[in-house]
Amino acid sequence: MAEGDVLYEKRGRVVIITMNRPQRMNALSGGMLDELNKAWTHFADDEDAWVGVLTGAGDKAFSAGADLKDMAEANASGNKPKSRGRGSVVPPSTPRGLEIYKPTIAAVNGYALAGGWWMAQDCDMIVADETAQFGITETLWNLPGPWAADLTSRISIRHAIEATVVPERITAQRAREMGFVNWVVPKGKALERALEIATSIAERCAPACTRSFIEMYYRCHGKPVAEARALGMHIQRPLMTMEDSKEGPRAFAEKRKPQFKNR
Ligand code: COA
Repeated sequence: MAEGDVLYEKRGRVVIITMNRPQRMNALSGGMLDELNKAWTHFADDEDAWVGVLTGAGDKAFSAGADLKDMAEANASGNKPKSRGRGSVVPPSTPRGLEIYKPTIAAVNGYALAGGWWMAQDCDMIVADETAQFGITETLWNLPGPWAADLTSRISIRHAIEATVVPERITAQRAREMGFVNWVVPKGKALERALEIATSIAERCAPACTRSFIEMYYRCHGKPVAEARALGMHIQRPLMTMEDSKEGPRAFAEKRKPQFKNR
């Protein structure tokens, strides 16, 4: 893939996607959102890409959200902001927006503000550097953040409101207490830890099964139990006839590591 505002690197079955505008704290320009859309689509379509990791270039920011300078410039000139339309024409640029169920991990290595919070939220798991700072800062600039509509399926309404209306940054530790962050790691180690986790998932977990659980959790959330279980059964039924579902128990009985082929 072409490299620019977003870098795409494949290491075995693990893909690293890097937001790459460190001079602007990896702020999300329209071009960056388009490239993220392409990168995640490429990841989804590549049968040999099993786990995705998202991070930010440099050691200061994961992403500082929408490019406010682009917006100010566009507003001053009367043009449409390059940071696409704020709502209607923003391309789906995240695993959730694209309904990707392959496991994804955000390695948050610095500021994750506004759209940066969104990029982390839309990965399945978050590893944060102990110095990372989070916040939904749209309220400081009178800008909308429709991606936060489903934040309360991840954390409580109370915590979502705290993150949005209290104009203090949220530490990595506080974000973990909120249930937003899974792991807090020493300074400079977020990507390393995310890659360790990603590699162990790719090496040990059956890919179809992993994806079916992730899909089930997102799609069944909030449904009444009977409806949720029926949908869960519908999502997981194809596993029963897979070669990998025979390989798992056979490998256990033969005291060896399963060799999954996603078939
Ligand atoms: N859009 C465009 N440029 C941004 C940016 C953004 N969201 N966030 C940071 N930058 C740029 C700064 O303008 C600065 O560029 P310059 O060196 O040419 O002046 C550079 O990145 C470094 O940022 P700076 O503010 O000097 O660093 P800092 O460490 O003092 O503060 C932040 C970092 C992220 C806390 C601060 O830049 C900030 O609050 N950014 C806005 C975040 C935000 O609220 N985004 C919401 C969008 S809805």
